[in-house]
Amino acid sequence: MKKRQKGAFKEPMKKLIKYCKFQWGWLALAILFGAIAAVFQIIGPIKIQDLTNMIVSGLAVGIDMEAFTQIALFLLLIYLLGAILGYFQQFIMATSTQAVVKRFRKDISAKINRLPLGYFDGHMYGDILSRVTNDVDTIGQSLNESIGTLFSSATLFLGVLIAMFVIEPIMAATVIGATIVGFSFSLIFLTRAQKYFTQNQRNLGQLNAHVEENYAGHNVVQLFNGQNKMHKEFEKINKKLYTSGWKAQFIGGVMQPVMGFVGNFGYVAVCVVGGVLAAQRGIGFIGTITTFMIFVRLFSNPLSQIAQSLSRLQSTAAASTRVFEFLDAKELADESDKTLVLNDVKGDVEFDNVVFGYNKDKVIIKGFSANIKAGEKVAIVGPTGAGKTTLVNLLMRFYETNSGSIKIDGVKTTDLTRDNVHRLFGMVLQDTWLFEGTIKENLRYNNPNVTDEQIVEACKKVGVDHFIQTLSKGYDTVLTDSVNLSSGQKQLLTIARTMLENRPMMILDEATSSVDTRTEVLLQEAMDKVMEGRTSFIIAHRLSTIKNANLILVLKDGDIVESGTHEQLLEKGGFYADLYNSQFEKV
Ligand SMILES: Nc1ncnc2c1ncn2[C@@H]1O[C@H](COP(=O)(O)OP(=O)(O)O)[C@@H](O)[C@H]1O
Ligand SMILES: [Mg+2]
Repeated sequence: MKKRQKGAFKEPMKKLIKYCKFQWGWLALAILFGAIAAVFQIIGPIKIQDLTNMIVSGLAVGIDMEAFTQIALFLLLIYLLGAILGYFQQFIMATSTQAVVKRFRKDISAKINRLPLGYFDGHMYGDILSRVTNDVDTIGQSLNESIGTLFSSATLFLGVLIAMFVIEPIMAATVIGATIVGFSFSLIFLTRAQKYFTQNQRNLGQLNAHVEENYAGHNVVQLFNGQNKMHKEFEKINKKLYTSGWKAQFIGGVMQPVMGFVGNFGYVAVCVVGGVLAAQRGIGFIGTITTFMIFVRLFSNPLSQIAQSLSRLQSTAAASTRVFEFLDAKELADESDKTLVLNDVKGDVEFDNVVFGYNKDKVIIKGFSANIKAGEKVAIVGPTGAGKTTLVNLLMRFYETNSGSIKIDGVKTTDLTRDNVHRLFGMVLQDTWLFEGTIKENLRYNNPNVTDEQIVEACKKVGVDHFIQTLSKGYDTVLTDSVNLSSGQKQLLTIARTMLENRPMMILDEATSSVDTRTEVLLQEAMDKVMEGRTSFIIAHRLSTIKNANLILVLKDGDIVESGTHEQLLEKGGFYADLYNSQFEKV
């Protein structure tokens, strides 16, 4: 267990360090500044030792003011320099780590566009989003808070250690002893507190989950009379949260005085041991006591800071793991070497023995072949899960075939860039896609050359112009949740947009599935206009809408089981005829 954790720290940190290469110079400078500032912090007390001794001995014979001022000024100078270095260290750390964060965000956003759609089948959007925001933020913050502190604390710690032993070994041993005692003390408290804090956190999570589950499904809970059970459960979690809550709060609050005691304990130890030694060694030892008073603090502070920095680096490593996992995910094949471009296509489409499965274990399309002439309207029908949408995904190259090929005007789609393939098709899907913006902006999407007149013309053609005119701002109405468009109206807008895109071929996948039969007739008319003269693939549940297709492909479990025109298929009396008749009976 421990070993695995170590690996999970080293690997991502290695990657992160490499990733930060472009900031190495700056980071090194920041670290150097921090180390120099730490050295100044050690020189300070040593000089104070001289200063104190001057005062003490000066009490009898008078102080050498010139030498005294010199040392005092020197002290002021190094403390000031230390502060300035600290200032620049912080500045460099902040800008450097944010530069790394910026680069992460840029790379992630570029990466999203290079990932195959299949990646998103296996990863939730929320999770990806959290990598872009939370994890990257965590890296930036924890890195900023840890690196500088880690190095300057280590310098300070070692420096003080050496300085103490050089100045006075017995006093050095006293400081170390007192610190160890103090730390063991606080460690006991810390682990206790940690336990309650984690417990508290877990209980809080449970409560959140409980509340979310029951309020999100509020009416369901009421419908099934689940309030009682829900309430009892809530009480139970709430009680647990109370117990862990007060314990965590109490121990957290007690920490401060306990830690205070640890610090003071060190002072007392230095005073007592220093006093005994001073009795033997005389008045000159008072300066040493002063110095060690300061050393006590300088020695114990970096220890807790190093511990803190290391635990921050743990979160850096955890966040890096997640971010690099994403950045290292397998990408779509590079297509920059593809020079072939298809623009004005006739619209012949040929599927040649296409085999495909979303994953290796399950083949969905098992050798699909079809030959579609330019301008034909092809309907793909079949039960849910037959693979209709999958065919569209392959045609659009959202996914790559396992074997076989798809040709447009005789050119394999794999010889074209994905982008080129996408530009050949207009798509209308069951889910309408409109963004927050005016109707005009929505219709002009991706196509800035479209004029206002063309927009109105397209809307008239699909029959949505009249409705838009009734809106108070007409075509400038901003589409938000408060503008209530029916799903039919939304779909008409989508169809108008597709019409304006003016792509040579069309794909309509269940475009009318979420509307009532009367709206369906409207949509059908609109779609017929978009399909005019274009090779079109239409997938529809209600077979009455595809009767006039030039070719109907009946798909079942990824195979074409029948094909022909509506009349031919009805005459054949096979699968299609059954399907059609069953729907006809129901309506
Ligand atoms: N992204 C996906 N990952 C894995 N399997 C999928 C994915 N999309 C669809 N499938 C599976 O492929 C089969 C065909 O689905 P689909 O083409 O959407 O059917 P249809 O559009 O005909 O209803 C179904 O068994 C479905 O579960
Ligand atoms: Mg489908």
